[in-house]
Amino acid sequence: DLFSRAVGNADAVLDALREEAAGCTLCPLYEPATQTVFGEGRAAAQIMLVGEQPGDQEDLAGEPFVGPAGQVLDECLDRAGIDRSNAYVTNAVKHFKFVQRGRRRIHEKPKVSEIDVCAKAWLAREREVVAPDLVIALGASAVRGITGKSGTIKSMRSDIRPIEGGSHLLVTVHPSYLLRIPDDEMREAETAAFVDDLRMGREFVA
Ligand code: URA
Repeated sequence: DLFSRAVGNADAVLDALREEAAGCTLCPLYEPATQTVFGEGRAAAQIMLVGEQPGDQEDLAGEPFVGPAGQVLDECLDRAGIDRSNAYVTNAVKHFKFVQRGRRRIHEKPKVSEIDVCAKAWLAREREVVAPDLVIALGASAVRGITGKSGTIKSMRSDIRPIEGGSHLLVTVHPSYLLRIPDDEMREAETAAFVDDLRMGREFVA
């Protein structure tokens, strides 16, 4: 039918974007990185999850959220009743930014200018094609990439607001933040709050 043909077409548009992004040289981050890590998922997804940028393992695998933060995300999506394969998972910045320390590559926060250039070129177009009901921003870099504005997570968290393009935005923390909490009890409480945010998102699109 017309609908499934339109959806099939959108998946082809995503593939074309992915191919184009593979050769992206819009900012210097492409040089030391292994490859562009484009978003993953179907164009028909109702929920789009946006992280900051690929990490070490994502850079090597070419897929978003497959490293330690991805494991936390997977567990929490599961607890919230969200099927990752029905979501579209992507990042504000598509190349891994790092500093080399011996054999290790240490994550470096992307600059606002890097987020803005990358998000305008790729994230904005992923959003146009997928047109999700809900965009979930994981952390402040994602908020910047989605809205073009900087805001604190604390002031925006756990609230669903309309954004440009007919979608809604839900802001929550980044799973890496949970990994960095040393105290077990506090980490479990923060993880539960993150799961609550994700569940709120699932209920919004249900
Ligand atoms: N952190 C992110 O923000 N994105 C990834 O893909 C992996 C880790």
